Amino acid sequence: MAINCNLVSVIGLLLVLTLLQNPVTVAGQRNSGAALFTFGDSNFDAGNKQTLTKTSVAQGFWPYGKSRDDPNGKFSDGFIAPDFLAKFMGIPIEIPPALVPNVNVSRGASFAVADATLLGAPVESLTLSQQVRKFNQMKANWNDDFIKKSAFLIYIGANDYLNFSKNNPNADASAQQAFVTSVTNKLKNDISLLYSSGASKFIIQTLAPLGCLPIVRQEYKTGMEKCHEPLNDLAKQHNEKIGPMLNEMAKSAQGFQFTVFDFYDAIIRRTQKPSSYRLFMTNASCCGIGTHDAFGCGLPNVHVRLCEYQRSYLFFDGRHNTEKAQEMFAHLLIGADKNVIQPMNVRELVVYPVDENMTEEWVPTTPATVQARDSRSSSHGYESY
Ligand SMILES: *[C@@H]1O[C@H](CO)[C@@H](O)[C@H](O)[C@H]1NC(C)=O
Ligand SMILES: *[C@@H]1O[C@H](CO)[C@@H](O)[C@H](O)[C@H]1NC(C)=O
Ligand SMILES: *[C@@H]1O[C@H](CO)[C@@H](O)[C@H](O)[C@H]1NC(C)=O
Ligand SMILES: *[C@@H]1O[C@H](CO)[C@@H](O)[C@H](O)[C@H]1NC(C)=O
Repeated sequence: MAINCNLVSVIGLLLVLTLLQNPVTVAGQRNSGAALFTFGDSNFDAGNKQTLTKTSVAQGFWPYGKSRDDPNGKFSDGFIAPDFLAKFMGIPIEIPPALVPNVNVSRGASFAVADATLLGAPVESLTLSQQVRKFNQMKANWNDDFIKKSAFLIYIGANDYLNFSKNNPNADASAQQAFVTSVTNKLKNDISLLYSSGASKFIIQTLAPLGCLPIVRQEYKTGMEKCHEPLNDLAKQHNEKIGPMLNEMAKSAQGFQFTVFDFYDAIIRRTQKPSSYRLFMTNASCCGIGTHDAFGCGLPNVHVRLCEYQRSYLFFDGRHNTEKAQEMFAHLLIGADKNVIQPMNVRELVVYPVDENMTEEWVPTTPATVQARDSRSSSHGYESY
């Protein structure tokens, strides 16, 4: 009887603990109460370019923003990936452009500006290090603990390589390697600056297959099926360095946490099997003129073609994705597995205890590692559905 009583109370206690714990973890995973800060180029620009330039930008005009009937300076037909990601993180307001005065930055801000680069001096834009400087100037808005638990999402480098290949069309392998090294070293330097400013949770998105952007296919006259491979090679060389570089940083900096989103492969998968993603057109844009409808969207006096149904396109203009595709990318960022984002997804990153070193590393994904992972997970035997 005494034993029974004990058993009952133990079971009762367990039940209470389970009931108490579940809502807490679930709430904690959905909403860490932290912010989302974005850095980089037009892909994450929430309206900064529009503020920075004296002349009007095409993105302030129809058909940009067409899905929401709201052209607002974003490089898409509607929301961009960080908007969806912020929502998935439980952030109740839109991530505003940091360069616009008096916006509500309580849950983050976009420091990304169209045309941004790592190297050089982009015209009417900011390099990543200038964006970090801007963040530091605004730091009084957030306390240190808040910055430490917030996510820092970065996509940068595409303009460096587009510019490089335009100016050096015949660069040999060693000139390419030297350029990739200087770009990635600068990236490392800028991430270190952010870490010194108090950031500790980094999400780095690999570069898209730049040679497959409709504007690049159009300018290099590749036709519909082919991409401009020299630019894809540069992006690949860049991307290969990102994971190892961040592993190294995590080893030498206390509490440095990161993850790498394989954006390159996410785009390649969609161009190779559009229908699996319910896409109809992946190699030409929805809005523009030219062989790939890739130029001039939103410009005055350019008679562009506009697709009827933007949600079945991968690209809205010559180099930016549709809202539909951006929503998919945000889903991958928040919750995909290690074949897509590793060593953890954003949901895991934002609840990872601050000040702790990561226990997992980024590992190169080859078809072999992907297979090994597949067999490992299915060997548990309980994943049938
Ligand atoms: C800013 O947004 C937050 C929600 O994240 C809200 O609580 C706060 O009142 C807003 N501040 C202003 C000044 O509107
Ligand atoms: C583009 O390339 C040219 C020539 O290499 C260089 O002078 C310039 O600084 C680059 N622009 C940017 C923004 O990187
Ligand atoms: C689109 O581009 C991809 C990658 O270059 C290629 O494999 C595919 O065949 C192209 N699709 C069409 C319909 O041209
Ligand atoms: C975390 O990493 C830093 C940098 O390598 C190291 O100095 C520190 O001892 C590590 N902390 C723990 C708890 O392992």
